[in-house]
Amino acid sequence: MNRIFSGVQPTGNLHLGNYLGAIRNWVALQNEYECIFCIVDLHALTLPQDPDELRASTREVTAAYIAAGIDPERCIIFNQSMVPAHAELAWLLACLTPLGWLNRMTQFKEKAGKQREMAGLGLYSYPVLMAADILVYKATHVPVGEDQKQHLELARDIAGAFNRRYDRDFFPLPEPQIFGAATRVMSLRDGTKKMSKSDSSDFSRINMTDDAQAITLKIRRAKTDPLPLPSTIADLERRPEADNLLGIYAALAGMSREVALTRFAGRNFSEFKEALSELSVEVLGRIGGEMRRLMADPGYIDAVLRRGVERARAIAEPVLREAQQISGLLRP
Ligand code: TYM
Repeated sequence: MNRIFSGVQPTGNLHLGNYLGAIRNWVALQNEYECIFCIVDLHALTLPQDPDELRASTREVTAAYIAAGIDPERCIIFNQSMVPAHAELAWLLACLTPLGWLNRMTQFKEKAGKQREMAGLGLYSYPVLMAADILVYKATHVPVGEDQKQHLELARDIAGAFNRRYDRDFFPLPEPQIFGAATRVMSLRDGTKKMSKSDSSDFSRINMTDDAQAITLKIRRAKTDPLPLPSTIADLERRPEADNLLGIYAALAGMSREVALTRFAGRNFSEFKEALSELSVEVLGRIGGEMRRLMADPGYIDAVLRRGVERARAIAEPVLREAQQISGLLRP
């Protein structure tokens, strides 16, 4: 059986990268797979959070999933901390994950920065919890943006380590699904940096709740070079900012980069940016409006999450019990 698991951290400022790299793709996949979409609030705690903002962001991410087109009847939508099996399995997996594997994780190095000794243990062991998120549902496929690729390779290694230690095929090795024309959306201010929730410059990212005016202004101010758009992908790839904006256009329009490029080859940026603004406002305007409408009704959002928690527990708990049994823990 094919089962999808994926998640987003509720750390504020959901942006175009989260939408194009992940959430938009999930909407298409829900027709083909059994889908479980999580708001990973335990992961958010790996860096300091304001408690009230964390709760608000958890509802906001839930609203974003639904507004983007994920059907809460067909899919399971829930917040991670309500299903304790994630954290319990994470311990069993942590006990068979070598430190050497965690030391390779580039995201930890980026997030911990120079103050490595001061970084929390949770930030370091984050990829083990992420592996548990996936494996506790025996998920077979994980649709994410490119920045999560290394974490998914580790999840596969950890699944393999469990299977080898106990000499059985218990966990499937989850397949990453990284697709679309914008698997790595870059900052609008710097084509070599990822668009990120934590970037201090507001002009670096388009948020999913930005209004038409903010979207248009940010795209107008996006960094570009003075040349018109080239006619080949190879030439485009030598110009990171242009490449990024064209990828965003292609992903929003649901076309390949090649097709998008034939539409704009030889045109100047003012013309292209206008088309990009129009398309962004059309897509994000609709989703942002729907998010605001949903967030005005927290009772509805909480009911969706409660129902999701129940359905998620029904899958996760038996898997955890079996993993405990296999690991030799007495269940008297
Ligand atoms: P997070 O919250 O950083 O991002 C959520 C999703 O958005 C994608 N993404 C991007 N895609 C393209 N361009 C970007 N600039 C960009 N920024 C973010 C991410 O790849 C991700 O798919 N560790 C995960 C959350 C997580 C998870 C999981 C995911 C926890 N457990 C289990 C899958 C399965 C994270 O921090 O995502």
